Amino acid sequence: MSERDFAARLAAVGAQVESSLDGLLGAGALDGEHVRPARLLAAMRYAALDGGKRLRPFLFVESARLFGADGPGLLRAACAVEMIHCYSLVHDDLPAMDNDDLRRGKPTTHKAFDEATAILAGDSLLTYAFDMMADPDTHPDPAVRCDLALGLARASGLGGMAGGQMLDLDAESAGEPLDQASIIRLQAMKTGALLRFSAEGGAIFAQAAAEERAALASYGRALGAAFQIADDILDAEGDEAAMGKRVAKDADRNKGTLVAILGLEAARTRRDALVEEAAAALARFGDRAATLVAAARFTAARSS
Ligand code: IPE
Ligand code: IPE
Ligand code: MG
Ligand code: MG
Ligand code: MG
Repeated sequence: MSERDFAARLAAVGAQVESSLDGLLGAGALDGEHVRPARLLAAMRYAALDGGKRLRPFLFVESARLFGADGPGLLRAACAVEMIHCYSLVHDDLPAMDNDDLRRGKPTTHKAFDEATAILAGDSLLTYAFDMMADPDTHPDPAVRCDLALGLARASGLGGMAGGQMLDLDAESAGEPLDQASIIRLQAMKTGALLRFSAEGGAIFAQAAAEERAALASYGRALGAAFQIADDILDAEGDEAAMGKRVAKDADRNKGTLVAILGLEAARTRRDALVEEAAAALARFGDRAATLVAAARFTAARSS
């Protein structure tokens, strides 16, 4: 698949995700809700709409499509993953965490609103993601909904993204740099887990066979590892305007990255090997997996 075809496909799914999120984050209260406070809703919309590559929902949608699934429920499940991601960014940028003022080319949510509102917007996006996975409108089979919620919880919480964020912050204040194995584990948690679930979740949604689901999980694990190395390389040598966020901050903050302990060249080599690993995990699907293979290559080659 050419880079151009891939970009068009990513943009098409991105537009569908945008419009779904826009609808889900409407002012009307759902059954069981009281009222949606305008300021909180505005902050959630600010954090979730109009920005981002939408890579996670894209992986979810394309992975499900590999097994023939599609439709509005699929988009809702994919949006749940993006909501978790957006929440993680809002909290990651808070003064108590990475203390950043620019995200997706705009002031961070706590700058545009205030810290308390940003914390609550993150909390509400997190909760909404599980609302989405539990809602029968997302998938008719309760066992699938349960599996999706379980996988998303394991990827996002204590032993996944939030746990990885803890290890990331611990590394900043550690006396000496983390070793390679510790960095790999930290990254598999803070970023890798949700990317892995994005790919595997599509297979769960489509009720793929166990070996097929495992292949998508292997693909997502390798892609996720490559993704964070690429993010760390872009922090070291990327362009702030293209990235829409501050760069050259990880080294000053003593972040545990492979760039820090191995250098840029070795980090690039590892990133590229992981992309090949991701592609190899999908070999059994042949050309049907061309879009997902292109997504793994995009992960490494991106400039934003
Ligand atoms: C940024 O993720 C945060 C990390 C997990 C490194 P993305 O690079 O996917 O951010 P958006 O969604 O495109 O803004
Ligand atoms: C953030 O990693 C990972 C999550 C948000 C879970 P980074 O701190 O490296 O992400 P950026 O560089 O701020 O986007
Ligand atoms: Mg961080
Ligand atoms: Mg950060
Ligand atoms: Mg980063």
